[in-house]
Amino acid sequence: PPLLLLLPPLLQLCGWRAQDAAGAWAEPGRAEDGAALSFQLSSELSRKVSPLFLSVTLDSNLITDPKYITLLGSTKLRTLARGLSPAFLRFGGTKGDFLIFDPQQKPTPEEKVFQDFLRKQATVDICGFRSAPLDFIEQLQSQWLFQQKLIFKEQEKNKYKNITFTRSTLDILYNFANCSNLHLIFGLNALLRKSGSQWDSSNAQLILNYTDSQNYTLSWELGNEPNSFLHKSGIEVNGFQLGQDFIQLRQLLNNYVHYKNAKIYGPDLGRSSRKHSKVLLKSFLKSGGKVLDSVTWHHYYIDGRIATRHDFLNPDILDSFKTKVEELFEIVNSTVPDKSVWLGETSSAFGGGTPNLSNAYIAGFMWLDKLGLSAQLGIDLVMRQVLYGAGNYQLVDANFEPLPDYWLSLLYKKLVGTTVLHVTITGLHPAKLRVYLHCTNTHHPKYREGDVTLFALNLYNSTKHLHVPAYFAKKQIDEYLLLPDGKDDLLSRSVQLNGYLLKMPDDETLPVFQEKPLSPGQSLKLPAFSYGFYVIRNAKVLACI
Ligand SMILES: *[C@@H]1O[C@H](CO)[C@@H](O)[C@H](O)[C@H]1NC(C)=O
Ligand SMILES: *[C@@H]1O[C@H](CO)[C@@H](O)[C@H](O)[C@H]1NC(C)=O
Ligand SMILES: *[C@@H]1O[C@H](CO)[C@@H](O)[C@H](O)[C@H]1NC(C)=O
Ligand SMILES: *[C@@H]1O[C@H](CO)[C@@H](O)[C@H](O)[C@H]1NC(C)=O
Ligand SMILES: *[C@@H]1O[C@H](CO)[C@@H](O)[C@H](O)[C@H]1NC(C)=O
Ligand SMILES: *[C@@H]1O[C@H](CO)[C@@H](O)[C@H](O)[C@H]1NC(C)=O
Ligand SMILES: *[C@@H]1O[C@H](CO)[C@@H](O)[C@H](O)[C@H]1NC(C)=O
Repeated sequence: PPLLLLLPPLLQLCGWRAQDAAGAWAEPGRAEDGAALSFQLSSELSRKVSPLFLSVTLDSNLITDPKYITLLGSTKLRTLARGLSPAFLRFGGTKGDFLIFDPQQKPTPEEKVFQDFLRKQATVDICGFRSAPLDFIEQLQSQWLFQQKLIFKEQEKNKYKNITFTRSTLDILYNFANCSNLHLIFGLNALLRKSGSQWDSSNAQLILNYTDSQNYTLSWELGNEPNSFLHKSGIEVNGFQLGQDFIQLRQLLNNYVHYKNAKIYGPDLGRSSRKHSKVLLKSFLKSGGKVLDSVTWHHYYIDGRIATRHDFLNPDILDSFKTKVEELFEIVNSTVPDKSVWLGETSSAFGGGTPNLSNAYIAGFMWLDKLGLSAQLGIDLVMRQVLYGAGNYQLVDANFEPLPDYWLSLLYKKLVGTTVLHVTITGLHPAKLRVYLHCTNTHHPKYREGDVTLFALNLYNSTKHLHVPAYFAKKQIDEYLLLPDGKDDLLSRSVQLNGYLLKMPDDETLPVFQEKPLSPGQSLKLPAFSYGFYVIRNAKVLACI
């Protein structure tokens, strides 16, 4: 039997205390550079997150001019997206409440070329193409920089124009998601209203009629950040009414073969700490909470326009997330206590992220810590803003190059499983040396049930050594340490894994992540301002079996 079976229950419950790791303290390095970890491994206290826990978004502002949807034809982007599956792909955002579907409208020339190509492809294998014959992608890429400026101008002025999109737009979006093995969530426009302020679902019906006729499988949202509807559009919708609108959406979906069982997520609340948002959420959940499959809210740590390098490394800012989560759960617990809670859109800094920070190695502290804390605090799924698109917080840049947070996400996907355990640290400040523990993802060919993955972030400006509990110290531990590549240091847009630069060998291939096996008994060494993952093999942890 696994050794843990033989441990007295009390020890399992308390984990291993600092002194248990005493043997491992005799390592090189001064005592103040080291810390002991204690693991809390009881199954009763572990929890599970969704298998799609790390998911991604595309912002609906991508189709502020619908021709840009064809950028999703990029083979490289598809390869990168597929790497993150299984995951949701949420298509939503402020612009989502200004999108109107017109099935009669002609597609843009770019869309038409792409769609004709897809139609032909459909007779063989709709995902089977190596690269779409889309000469205009490069041209669009160069225009995209200018297009981003227009998108941000609209955001700054906070006056949004309505955009119409076509069947082709939907086809291309769906094809991208489906061929990347991502499950699409489409955000419907909630600002189309009848005079009595009730939601006007006729445009949503046109969308559903079309996607249903195409056999598209997808899930739905209705409206983005309803707390700021008034501010964005001059239309105020209260929580009660929005709840009724969600019920109407449920009834509408029930009429469709493909959507009878489709899921609904919402209300995609923003600014969740504001009183107005809290009042809205509470009345919304009371009114329409029963038709929701998950409660979604949005989180950004700071304002991207003024955020500094210091903010990105500030433990207090990372900890501020906890308070927000607790406030949210207070409302959910008192209205729809059994509903799962998701971060429906989240990133480092709002307003598109911070130039030269949100797209660099340094952004990984906020991202990895958010993944760790969310799983700990009861959030079941986290959707990262954005996979690709306008701003500075993308995972993949305008040239389809993966950024540090992409590699971090991919590594997280490969190594971190859905069962959440607990780990505490003694000897260093837990806010500055942050640690998280999960069962290992057993889809990884090297790892087995019972293995555990620790991930750690060092916010100290010096190297730190972590000592795993004595029982595990003799186990084989695989290190996956991510460090910035090149002279830009923390502001670097490329990363090394265990000393090797991460890059795609070609547009259709992702690199294999090479682990670094540590010698038994060796401490985990984290350089100043760095993060990494550690898989403890053959750990035989019961909660992971
Ligand atoms: C968008 O279209 C809807 C429906 O026609 C209309 O009610 C609304 O005023 C329009 N919004 C803008 C910003 O033009
Ligand atoms: C992709 O489409 C196929 C065929 O319609 C469907 O069975 C499958 O579930 C879709 N995959 C995803 C991830 O939505
Ligand atoms: C959607 O399709 C149904 C069934 O064919 C039809 O009754 C309905 O009028 C259509 N909705 C719209 C808005 O065209
Ligand atoms: C949708 O599925 C049905 C039943 O499998 C099939 O007959 C029909 O051709 C499909 N429609 C499209 C557009 O693929
Ligand atoms: C909400 O409920 C969960 C599950 O019962 C509990 O663990 C959590 O502490 C509660 N949170 C708040 C803020 O009440
Ligand atoms: C970002 O970095 C580039 C050089 O990589 C520099 O030209 C630019 O001014 C920086 N932007 C800001 C806002 O600091
Ligand atoms: C870390 O310390 C070094 C040397 O004291 C200093 O030059 C550097 O700016 C510090 N880094 C940060 C991010 O504080």
